[in-house]
Amino acid sequence: MTATLKVARFPESSPPKACKVALLGFGTVGSSVARLLSARDHELPFQLTHVYNRDVARKRVDWVAEDVQWTEDFDDLLNSDAGVLVELVGGLQPAYEWVKKALLAGKAVVTANKQLIAHHGTELLALAREKDLHLGFGACVAGGVPVIAALQDGLAGDRLYKVRGILNGTCNYILTRIEQSGASFADALLEAQKAGFAEADPTDDLEGYDARAKLVILSRVGLNAEVRPEEVACRSIAGVAQIDFEYAHQLGCTIRQISRAELHDDRLYASVEPALVPQTEPLARVAGSQNLLVSTGEFGGETVFAGFGAGGNPTAVAVVSDLLHIARHKPRENDAAPSARYKVSSDFETPHYVRFVIQDKPGIIAAIAGVLSRNGINIDSVLQKPGCSKSELPFVMTLESCSSAKVSQAVTEIGRFDFLKSTPFVMPILR
Ligand SMILES: NC(=O)c1ccc[n+]([C@@H]2O[C@H](COP(=O)([O-])OP(=O)(O)OC[C@H]3O[C@@H](n4cnc5c(N)ncnc54)[C@H](OP(=O)(O)O)[C@@H]3O)[C@@H](O)[C@H]2O)c1
Repeated sequence: MTATLKVARFPESSPPKACKVALLGFGTVGSSVARLLSARDHELPFQLTHVYNRDVARKRVDWVAEDVQWTEDFDDLLNSDAGVLVELVGGLQPAYEWVKKALLAGKAVVTANKQLIAHHGTELLALAREKDLHLGFGACVAGGVPVIAALQDGLAGDRLYKVRGILNGTCNYILTRIEQSGASFADALLEAQKAGFAEADPTDDLEGYDARAKLVILSRVGLNAEVRPEEVACRSIAGVAQIDFEYAHQLGCTIRQISRAELHDDRLYASVEPALVPQTEPLARVAGSQNLLVSTGEFGGETVFAGFGAGGNPTAVAVVSDLLHIARHKPRENDAAPSARYKVSSDFETPHYVRFVIQDKPGIIAAIAGVLSRNGINIDSVLQKPGCSKSELPFVMTLESCSSAKVSQAVTEIGRFDFLKSTPFVMPILR
């Protein structure tokens, strides 16, 4: 958990600051940004001028400077002398319209809105470049872990071709709980909701849409590859069961929701899905709601970034770091450099894990092996825990490296056998 910020009240009459900032949205992140600005008022060159929110009266707090204007009229911000608008309302609309209007009105923008930047980033960044303005979005990916700045600046000297990450703290928390406590998926989700790590409607997290938006941004920034969110295949973590961890451990692995994008020749391979991760990998050691990103470059090899991927305070740090970047630097051409389009595929060449649940009878392994063989897939191992009921018997096959499309085809054919009690559950095994 993150530490609570010590909040100093803004002095009644602060001297004028170089950079005037208007805050759009006073929820978890918005209020944390205001607190951080307040706590570091003497050290930072920012003056908060406006706080915008619907029904703003219920949002008022006494630790914000008295001269800050609380408003529910967006035009107050647009017509103000604030040089930077910080968008923290979330969602595509009206955030998209507001950010566009702010840029058109000559205001720099900082946002933590990953969906906005994943869906409209190319257009908005082009507009910012045209207007010679900053559009900061470091808080969109991995919260307080400065991966965007690191890929844009720290690793700009390399030619990156691969990013792999654990980018959704909710999924990581749930999978870690199933692994550590043996909880069912449903119980682990409930626990995550009670602990504040999962939304009441967790669809975006569990189905991979949240991580997908972050992967789209990372592909653009790190791999210089333009990809639309709907082009990236997502698979839910909801199929992962406790028994999968038992088999994964036997294989020297754990299970995590993995977001990955890799450039090979003229293709961008990208997906968000649960995967087996070797215990020796940094990705396997991420517990609870933490995030981790591994980038791989042609010259510098692997670089690992880890830390708090969400939460008000870590995300506020990323927002304020973007504000400082704006205060210190002129907008750079490269901030909005157009990326290249690639064909997008999720057909990774990789070993696979397949869990079958069957009604036991003779000849089952032979029947499954026959289908796999017809599809050109080699079996690597067969694992079966002793002592399970013969009427609902789980066992696992691991498959040698082959294309995911081939495995899907074979599993569809296998799914027609009458001895199967449920659809086989497939996960890639990372190498
Ligand atoms: N929370 C995190 O850990 C985290 C981490 C990284 C990035 N982010 C991103 O940061 C952004 C904000 O997230 P958050 O967690 O702070 O969300 P939040 O707690 O729901 O705050 C959003 C705030 O904006 C207000 N708002 C929403 N829609 C509005 C509208 N149409 N008109 C006026 N006000 C509106 C909400 O008012 P009400 O109170 O009336 O709903 C609320 O005060 C999102 O883009 C999110 O993806 C969040």
